Amino acid sequence: MKLWGGRFSDRLDAAAWKLNASIEFDRRLAIQDVRGSLAWAAALESAGILSGEESAQIRAGLGVIEAEFQNETFPFQEQDEDIHTAVERRLGELIGALAGKLHSGRSRNDQVATDLRLWLLDHLPALDEELRGLQGALLDRARVDMGTLMPGYTHLQPAQPVLLSHWWLSHFWPLERDRGRLRGLRERTAVLPLGSGALAGTPFPIDREAIAAELGFAAVSENSIDAVSDRDFAAEFLFCAALVGIHLSRLAEAVILFSSAEFGYFTLPDAYTTGSSLMPQKRNPDVFELARGKSGALLGYLVGLMTTLKGLPSAYDKDLQEDKVPVFNAWDTLSVLLPVLANAVKGLSIQGERMHSGLGADLMATDLADYLVEKGIPFRQAHTLVGKVVKLSGRLGKTLDEMDMDEYWSISPQFDSDVVQVFSASRSVNRRRAYGGTAPSAVEVQILSAQAALDREL
Ligand code: ARG
Repeated sequence: MKLWGGRFSDRLDAAAWKLNASIEFDRRLAIQDVRGSLAWAAALESAGILSGEESAQIRAGLGVIEAEFQNETFPFQEQDEDIHTAVERRLGELIGALAGKLHSGRSRNDQVATDLRLWLLDHLPALDEELRGLQGALLDRARVDMGTLMPGYTHLQPAQPVLLSHWWLSHFWPLERDRGRLRGLRERTAVLPLGSGALAGTPFPIDREAIAAELGFAAVSENSIDAVSDRDFAAEFLFCAALVGIHLSRLAEAVILFSSAEFGYFTLPDAYTTGSSLMPQKRNPDVFELARGKSGALLGYLVGLMTTLKGLPSAYDKDLQEDKVPVFNAWDTLSVLLPVLANAVKGLSIQGERMHSGLGADLMATDLADYLVEKGIPFRQAHTLVGKVVKLSGRLGKTLDEMDMDEYWSISPQFDSDVVQVFSASRSVNRRRAYGGTAPSAVEVQILSAQAALDREL
């Protein structure tokens, strides 16, 4: 069935029909489309366009259709151009010509914008749940691995000792910000376009506020032209998804690196590790590699839609039909990825001794400079003196804690025999007690605020 045949003599070319049809992907909006239509029928009744009897019949028919979608018995047909057409066609089969009254004062333009917003509103809580699942796994790790020290890196060069728990939580907070973004996104998505017509508004006395209340929208759109063209919510969702992808990729990359033989900090769980068809000894971190890899596609969905939106001339253009596939793809990608990653993180084993053996005395070079600072030496000068100590240690082939006092004194008389205590990684960590630092006391506080954040649902 076609909804627009009246002014045409020739049929649409078969290949063009295929290009134009969106049913293959917008069938995912089926339930939302029916809900939108139920609310519209009620609004038409209040506006006096449908009698009570007509509205009841239409709504009963829509109820049957909704059940058919739920039971997956809806009879899709080859000629259904999109989900809106399919529902109207089916309604006609069920209740006859009266079905033709449902589209009064409405356009597929305000309909599809409403459907996609509804779909997103329906699906954001599950995404939030999945993010919380991974956050929960990271937070559990932070609790369980408390007390394990590891080298912290900047530029991927050993920098300063940190608590492994602190490192786990460094991957918790980006996801917390992602959830915050979803909250903001939900607010901006919950604005109802229905009642905007094709672009100019609806000619009937439709109570848009009532529709919004029925469908769970918080507000109604202010401008009908804007309402049918606005896909900010879709782009914003794709941005959120892309940024989640980048956060997952960063975590994955670190796990891949740290589980390599050269680092040996983590051992991958069997259930989340794959083998090689050729090399019998291999244990490959495919799950984490796929997380890293899929972040590329997630970014692509965002760039794809933004590029589609750029330069569109007027209210609705068919280009906008391209909004759905990236939104569905991004959602699908994350809902496969997040639970797997959560479990894989839970299953990692920690090689604490390997991490500990990476904590050479030069990771405490900053502490050595701080030691001089506490003796009243300006930090800049202390930095230079310790730089000289490091240089000398290289020349002597000794580590900082192997050098004797004469060697220290050759650089500065300010060093005392108590300097050896500086080369303790746990001392270094324990000193970083200021809020947000890596000291156990600070990380305990951090765990409490992470738990409080995690307790907040979308
Ligand atoms: N399938 C279309 C879409 O996804 C529905 C809106 C069609 N509107 C129109 N004026 N042809 O955007």
